[in-house]
Amino acid sequence: MKCIYYCLISLCLNANWLLADIIKYDPEVIEVAHLRTPGFITKYGYKCEEHRVDTKDGFSLILHRIPKPGAQPVLLVHGLQDSSSAWVMTGAGHGLAFLLSDRGYDVWLMNCRGNRYSRKHRKFHILQRQFWDFSFHEIGVYDLPAAIDYVLDHSKGHDQLHYVGHSQGTTAAFVLGAERPAYMKKIKLMQALAPVAYFENVELPLLRAIAPHVAGIMRFAQAVGINEIPPETEVWRELSYKLCSFAFRSTCMEFIMELVGTDVEQMNSTLTPIFLGQYPAGSSIKSLGHYGQQVLSGGLYKYDYDDPNVNRRYYGSPKPPAYKLAKIDCKVALYYGQNDSLVSVKDVQRLRRQLPNVVHDEKLAYKKFNHLDFLAAIDVKELLYNSMFQVMEKVDRGEL
Ligand SMILES: *[C@@H]1O[C@H](CO)[C@@H](O)[C@H](O)[C@H]1NC(C)=O
Ligand SMILES: *[C@@H]1O[C@H](CO)[C@@H](O)[C@H](O)[C@H]1NC(C)=O
Repeated sequence: MKCIYYCLISLCLNANWLLADIIKYDPEVIEVAHLRTPGFITKYGYKCEEHRVDTKDGFSLILHRIPKPGAQPVLLVHGLQDSSSAWVMTGAGHGLAFLLSDRGYDVWLMNCRGNRYSRKHRKFHILQRQFWDFSFHEIGVYDLPAAIDYVLDHSKGHDQLHYVGHSQGTTAAFVLGAERPAYMKKIKLMQALAPVAYFENVELPLLRAIAPHVAGIMRFAQAVGINEIPPETEVWRELSYKLCSFAFRSTCMEFIMELVGTDVEQMNSTLTPIFLGQYPAGSSIKSLGHYGQQVLSGGLYKYDYDDPNVNRRYYGSPKPPAYKLAKIDCKVALYYGQNDSLVSVKDVQRLRRQLPNVVHDEKLAYKKFNHLDFLAAIDVKELLYNSMFQVMEKVDRGEL
C-alpha cells in the first residue's frame, strides 16, 4: 500500500517534463518562494535568531526571533499546516512580525510540533507513529508552556509576554488556559485572530462532507502507516507549488478561496507562488481528526478515542470532557472576519460569552475579510493590525 503511494508521488514529481511547456519559470519568484523563515527575515534586512526549545514530552521546537533584547516580548503562533513564515512571507512593512519589530517589540515566532521546522523528538523519528500522536491539545499542553517559559527566560525584566495566535494558534492557547491555567499569569494579552473553538455554525461544504468520515480516514491511514498529513510534506509542497503556481493557477486559487473564504480584492496575486512555497507546512493526521470531531460535536472537547473504554482510561469517563474555557482568565482580544469560511461570527460570539476576561471584541469591519486575510490581505495593516497595535499599547500602558 505504502509502496503504491510512494510510487505515485515519485511519478508525479518526475512528471516535470509534462509541465515543461506550460511552466514559465521566473527565477526571482522561484528563489523567494523557496525561502524559509530566516531567509525572509534577513532578506528584508532584519536580524534573525534560531532557538531550540525542548518540551517536557521530548519534542525539539524551533523558534525564530527578530531580536530586540530587553524589549517587551511577543510570541506569534501560527495555524494548522502553517509555520513561522506566516508572519514574514509578505515582507517588510507588511508582515506582522516586521511591523511589531518596527514598533519596538522583541518578536518570537513559534513552530509547533510536526511542522517543517519542528520535526525532532528525543526518542521518536518522524517515520514512527508515536511521533505523530498529537493534536492541538498537546500543542497547548506542552509546546506553548515550553515556548512561553523559554521566551520569558530570555527576556530580562519582563514576567509577561504578548501572545498572538492565528486559527489553531488560538485553539492551542485556549487549551493552554483550560489545562495549564497557571500560564495565564504569564500572558499580558492574548490576541486571537480567527479564533477557533466551535464549529457549530461553520457551513463550509467541504468540511461538512469530510467530517463524518474523518474517523474512517484515520483508521485507514494508520493501517497503511501514514500519520502525517500531508504525508511527505516537503514533497507535496513542491508538487502543489509547481502545479498551482504555474499550471493550474486559477483552479488552485478557486480551491483555496473555497477553503478560506472568497476575497479576491484583498488577495495579492504576485504573492501566490511565495505563498505556495510555504504551504502545507505539515501536521499530524490526529490534528485533523480532533478538528473533525469538533465539527461533528459542535463543542470543544478533548480527543475522542472512539471507544468508551479507552476514553475511560484517559479521562475517567466514557466520553471526553469539554475544555474549561472559564479558566482562560488572562486578557483576551478577539478579531474575526465576516467572510471566513472556517470561523463563523456566531461561534466566536458563543466563545466570547464563556471567556471571563475579554477586553476587546472586534468583528472586522471589512465585510469580505477571510481566514487568510489575517496574514496576507493587501491592506491588512489598515484593516486589522493598526487596531491590534492600539490594543497592545493600551495594555502596555496599563489603560486596559
Ligand atoms: C503585492 O506583493 C508584491 C511583492 O511583495 C508587492 O511588491 C506589491 O506592492 C503588492 N501589491 C499590492 C497591491 O499591495
Ligand atoms: C463571502 O463573500 C462572498 C462574496 O460576497 C459570498 O458569495 C460568500 O458566501 C461569503 N462567504 C462567507 C463564508 O460568508
